[in-house]
Amino acid sequence: MHVLIVHCHPEPRSFNAALKDMAVETLQRLGYTVEVSDLYAEGFDPAEGPGHYRAPANPEVFTALTEQRHASEAGSLPPDVRREIARLERADLVVFQFPLWWHAQPAMLKGWMDRVFVYGGLYTGKRRYDRGHFRGRRAICCVTTGGPAATFAHNGRGGDINLLLWPMHYSLYYMGYDVLPPFLAHGIQGGGPVYQAQDAFKAQLETYKAGWARRLETLEESTPIPFTGWDDWDERGVLRPGVEGYDYFIRAHP
Ligand SMILES: Cc1cc2nc3c(=O)[nH]c(=O)nc-3n(C[C@H](O)[C@H](O)[C@H](O)COP(=O)(O)O)c2cc1C
Repeated sequence: MHVLIVHCHPEPRSFNAALKDMAVETLQRLGYTVEVSDLYAEGFDPAEGPGHYRAPANPEVFTALTEQRHASEAGSLPPDVRREIARLERADLVVFQFPLWWHAQPAMLKGWMDRVFVYGGLYTGKRRYDRGHFRGRRAICCVTTGGPAATFAHNGRGGDINLLLWPMHYSLYYMGYDVLPPFLAHGIQGGGPVYQAQDAFKAQLETYKAGWARRLETLEESTPIPFTGWDDWDERGVLRPGVEGYDYFIRAHP
């Protein structure tokens, strides 16, 4: 098995980087080959825009979807996007490593998705969701949060983490991936411990690292997050009668 880790954190000494290193070590120990896409270290430009397209379909008006499809067909996608797509094509499993920033993935990772999940190349109107390009492959997010675990429950002030991560997970499903439940490390305060004493905090970090390694060792036991698919929707794109849905975002009843 070949694994791609898309690592999104600006600081090599961060806890996110430690989790990434733990994943590399664990996966290699399991006999997998591992590749890391280190978005900050590699200086990935997350801002989609006309500057990326040397031979645009329309030099007057920039339309991202038009330019992505044109560049994909013409073989003129930006080199960094081509490199990321090649990495994705090689990977049976993709790990996304990132901190929760403003209740979502950092803009760097969102921009990576904006640019790398190329319209026309990696998805079209017909080639998405459970008919997506990467079907049969798996993806998992490893996410750190500043807030403590309790605050990410359904009634916590941090917001239900399953809802916060839904757009990220659904985008991966849109691309065809089987999305495994995330690994979450809560209460990580980059600047130092806030909620706990120093020793307890350090011990907690080690526990999370060991937990992440264990999770990677037992990925085969993970059942993908359920989403509705083409068979569940009618011609208007809404749930057919009798299909309840699996989450708050797409559901039979308001
Ligand atoms: C711009 C920014 C936004 C953040 N937003 C949130 C947030 O919405 N919820 C939360 O729990 N923590 C938030 N945090 C805290 C980070 O999640 C926390 O610093 C990170 O998970 C710690 O991991 P690190 O030490 O590897 O950076 C935010 C931090 C930054 C810098």
